[in-house]
Amino acid sequence: MEDLVNNIPKKVVYSGIQPTGIITIGNYIGAIDNWLKLQEDYNSLFSIVDLHALTVRQNPAEYRQRALSFFAQYLAAGIDPNKAIIYFQSHVKEHAELCWILNCFTYVGEMTRMTQFKDKSKKNEDNINMGLLDYPVLMAADILLYQTDLVPVGVDQKQHLEIARDIAIRFNNLYSPTFKVPEGYIPKQGAKIFSLQDPTGKMSKSDPDPNASVAIIEDPDSIMRKFKRAVTDCETTVEIREDKPGILNLLTIMSAMTGQTIESLADEYRDGGYAKFKQAVGESVVEKFRPLREEYNRLMQDKGYLMQVAKDGAEKASRIAYRTMQKVKRKIGLVELK
Ligand code: TRP
Repeated sequence: MEDLVNNIPKKVVYSGIQPTGIITIGNYIGAIDNWLKLQEDYNSLFSIVDLHALTVRQNPAEYRQRALSFFAQYLAAGIDPNKAIIYFQSHVKEHAELCWILNCFTYVGEMTRMTQFKDKSKKNEDNINMGLLDYPVLMAADILLYQTDLVPVGVDQKQHLEIARDIAIRFNNLYSPTFKVPEGYIPKQGAKIFSLQDPTGKMSKSDPDPNASVAIIEDPDSIMRKFKRAVTDCETTVEIREDKPGILNLLTIMSAMTGQTIESLADEYRDGGYAKFKQAVGESVVEKFRPLREEYNRLMQDKGYLMQVAKDGAEKASRIAYRTMQKVKRKIGLVELK
């Protein structure tokens, strides 16, 4: 996969997503939409990080179903297995293997200082397991295995990326250059989408309030209901103002769905009343995701195809990961079986 015009190898982009909660229209607008562009220009790897999500208790049957569903949703969204490597983290054993080795180059103090560890420990007081503490090292392994150049991350993952860089630099200094030191990639496009019930907070894939977020595969009736109920304000004019976060959020969503600017949408719906506006926003979401939902339903009926794509993805990923592991093992002095 070379850039044939300039004859330079393409940069590697890596991203992982935990198969928990639901994939929301916020995830789509803020991240997936951007991945679709990345796969055109980079060597991209997209991973369902099913080992990471084991740090909290999962119901096995539900978990298996959800992981598969996430995989199908990415494909339905347009991640193209001919352009990007899409796979399940647990299918490539090198992730766990490199994680162990990197553990020996990571200090406990670095891990206990992590903001997300502290937050999650508070939320799961009865299950502060080693995996929770080790989560950033597994993420570092994900990234470093593929000699990743760029990691598209939101602000909440910046600290984890920073530690991945620290570990890579530490290892490279102790031995010799082994890992590419990855950079964060802040996407140019991709608006931030807020909760439909509290437009000052982010639309979260694990919000306990089902009315706060909308899934990309949600059925049209349910989508319409949620937009009708969306929290706005007690005025009546659709306009772009900072003190109208609910309206601004709906405008942002509709703009992402239709490609129209928020200004032109505000003009168009200005005096028609909120009910009519919300109806239009809902319809734009229904229409945008209709083909995706249909493709998703079709894919979920075709497990054979899904598993074939998963297998191909894992094989491609394994080949790259294996090479990095060989290098690592040699450098640290493990005996090679020849
Ligand atoms: N920790 C990331 C999150 O919760 C998911 C993740 C795991 C990831 N491994 C990764 C993201 C590697 C980017 C690269 O969002």
